[in-house]
Amino acid sequence: MKDIQNFLSDTEIVSQALNDYIIESKNKTTPVLKQLPSEELSKLLNLDNLVKEGGLTGNILKKFMSDYLDNTTRLHHSGYMAHQVATTHPMGALGSFIDGTTNNPMGINEMGPAASSIEYFMINWMLEKIGWRTVPSYQQLDPSSDHAGGVLTHGGSLANLTALLAARSAMVPEFWTEGNPGNLIILVPEQSHYSMKRSVAILGLGEKNCITLPADHDGRILSHEIPALLQALKQKGKRVIALVANACGTAAGLYDPLPEVSKICREHNIWFHIDAAHGGGALLSKKYRHLIQGIELADSVIWDAHKMLRVPAVCAAVLVRDHRHLDHAFTQEASYLFHKKDQPGFDFMPRTVECTKAGLGLRLFMTVAAMGESGLENHVNLLVDMAIQAAEYIHQQDGFEVAISPETNILCFRCGSDDDLQLEIRRRLLERGNFFISTTLYREKRWLRLVFMNPSITMNDVRDLVTEVREIRAEL
Ligand SMILES: Cc1ncc(COP(=O)(O)O)c(C=O)c1O
Repeated sequence: MKDIQNFLSDTEIVSQALNDYIIESKNKTTPVLKQLPSEELSKLLNLDNLVKEGGLTGNILKKFMSDYLDNTTRLHHSGYMAHQVATTHPMGALGSFIDGTTNNPMGINEMGPAASSIEYFMINWMLEKIGWRTVPSYQQLDPSSDHAGGVLTHGGSLANLTALLAARSAMVPEFWTEGNPGNLIILVPEQSHYSMKRSVAILGLGEKNCITLPADHDGRILSHEIPALLQALKQKGKRVIALVANACGTAAGLYDPLPEVSKICREHNIWFHIDAAHGGGALLSKKYRHLIQGIELADSVIWDAHKMLRVPAVCAAVLVRDHRHLDHAFTQEASYLFHKKDQPGFDFMPRTVECTKAGLGLRLFMTVAAMGESGLENHVNLLVDMAIQAAEYIHQQDGFEVAISPETNILCFRCGSDDDLQLEIRRRLLERGNFFISTTLYREKRWLRLVFMNPSITMNDVRDLVTEVREIRAEL
C-alpha cells in the first residue's frame, strides 16, 4: 500500500516541521497567536481541493504543515499565558501519535491489551497519589472488594458528568429505570466550572436543582453555613444527593476547605465529589500538597492530566474511593461487548459514556515515564511559584491590582478599574501578538487572567507583559 510506503518519509516531514515549530515558538520569532478569518484559512490550507483530490503526502504535506503550523496557537511560546491547557511534553505527544497510528480503542481489553494495562496502571498511580487503596487488575474481578477504581475519559467535563452519574446511581439506584423522583438537589461551589451545571441538567435533575453553596468573599465554600442550607432544603422536601467542592476553582484557582466540607457530607449522608481537574497537580508536590489535604475523604474526584501534568489533550481521570460505584453507574447491557470472556486484562467500557475510547493512558504514561515523578513535582512547583512571584511583582506596580494571592498557577489582575478596559487591553495585546492571556469574571468584576502552563516562562516575560499592558493603557 502506497500510504504505508510514504509513512516513514511523511513522518520525517511532520517531525521536522514540528521540531522547527517548537524552536521557533520558544525563540518567540513568531506571534503567539494569529487569528485569520476562517474563510481565508480554508483557502490558504487548500482544504477544498485536498478533500476533493486527495494527495496529501511529500511536498504537498510539507506545504500544508508549514501553513497549518503558522496558524496555530503556540503553547510553547512564553507569551502563552491564556488557558489551562498543557504545554505538552514531546514524549506525551509521541504517545498521542502512537495511539493514533495503532488505533487501539481499549475500552475492551481485546481492542488494546497494552493500552488497557497501561490505563489500569496509571489509574492506580493516580489513586495512590490520593491515598486510596488499589489492587492489581486481576483482583478487580472480586465484587466484594471495596478498593478504589477509575477510568480515563475524554476531558474533565465528561469526567464530572461521569462522577455525578456515579453519585446519582449510588444515592438513587432506581433513577436509572424509574426516572427523576423530582426532589433531588446537587450543591456546587460558587466558583464551579460550567460543566457542573451542565452535568446536572444532562443527568435529568433540572438545572434549577443545581444550587450554589454559600461562599466567602473570595468565593471559597463557607462550610459552617451549609447545615442551615441543608435544613432549609429538607423543609422544602428536597433531598441533597451530592455536594461538590473545588480543588481548585477555574477563575482564580482557589482550593475549598475539603476536610470541613467532607465532615458535613458524612454527617448528612451526601456524596462528596471533588473537582480537582486543575488543582490535582498539587498531589505531586510536597510543597503544595497541603492545599489539597482532605481529598482522600471524597467519594469521587476528577483530575485532568492535560492541565498541569504536561500531557496532550485530552486525558482526564474519574476516580472513586469504592470502584463498585463506577462499575454500577451504567447499568446497561450490550450483549456483543459485555459477556463472560476468558481474558487476561480489564474492560473499562462499563465505566464510561464512550464506547470507542482512545488509549489515553499511553500519553499520560509516556509523559510521566519521561519526566519521572520528581520531574513532574518540579514542574508543578515551578508553575505555582511563577504565579506567586508574578503576583508579588504586579501587586507592586502603580495602577495595577491583584485579585488574590495565587494558590495555583492562575493569577488574576487588573489595570485600572473599568471592566470594559480589561477586555480592550486583552484585545490589543492579542493584536500585537506577543502575549496571549485570558480574562475572567471574579467577585463580580472583570480581571485579566494569566495561567502559567509553559515551564519556559520567566519573570522577564511577566515584566514585558506589564510593560505592554501599560503602553496599551496609555494609548486608550
Ligand atoms: C475546575 C475545572 N473543572 C472542569 C473543567 C473542564 O475540563 P475539560 O476542559 O477538560 O473538559 C475545567 C476546565 O478548565 C476546570 O477548570
